[in-house]
Amino acid sequence: MRGWIIPPPQDPTKSKRDLERERTAKVSWLVKSGYLKSERIKQALLKVPREDFIPRLYRDYAYLEVPLPLPGEHATISCPHSYPLFYEPLGLDEGHRFLEIGSGSGYGAAVAREVVGPGGLVVSIEIDPLTLEFARSNLEKAGYHDIVLVPGDGRLGYPESSPYDCMAVAAALHAER
Ligand SMILES: C[S@@+](CC[C@H](N)C(=O)[O-])C[C@H]1O[C@@H](n2cnc3c(N)ncnc32)[C@H](O)[C@@H]1O
Repeated sequence: MRGWIIPPPQDPTKSKRDLERERTAKVSWLVKSGYLKSERIKQALLKVPREDFIPRLYRDYAYLEVPLPLPGEHATISCPHSYPLFYEPLGLDEGHRFLEIGSGSGYGAAVAREVVGPGGLVVSIEIDPLTLEFARSNLEKAGYHDIVLVPGDGRLGYPESSPYDCMAVAAALHAER
């Protein structure tokens, strides 16, 4: 996480209501800043509680424009504006079959699940087993039971569920790890 100033871990102080207000304000900011245009992505960002995908000691910072650390090696949840930045140019929409590389917290997969709706499919690949378990637990608790979480190296894709309409590479992929 070079180049970012990560706030210090602390016990959560904000109520669910505070965080809901921050979520609404963040979505308005994303629209005003031009990151967010699609009504479907907007509704998904309003619906998914990002704070529930963040480790407890960083929860208060859920809506800050910084990546936050996750369990696992080098894993982070990306900044809030990254999600419309990924999904808008892809034209992610209802009914799409979507592949994400880098599940991280599971938040990006949950937002995509809301966008594609019941007729679509979300598959997400995560290389770090500890991070994958964190994503799995967050998604289960948040009520997302039909996202296909795949352990392994996203560079290999996941042909078992292909074809896909679009994919987002939310991980830094190197030739060698
Ligand atoms: C920036 S985070 C993704 C954030 C995530 N989309 C979210 O919403 O929280 C990048 C993730 O990609 C994972 N990763 C890195 N290399 C990978 C690879 N080759 N295949 C799959 N996942 C990989 C990392 O372990 C990390 O969890």
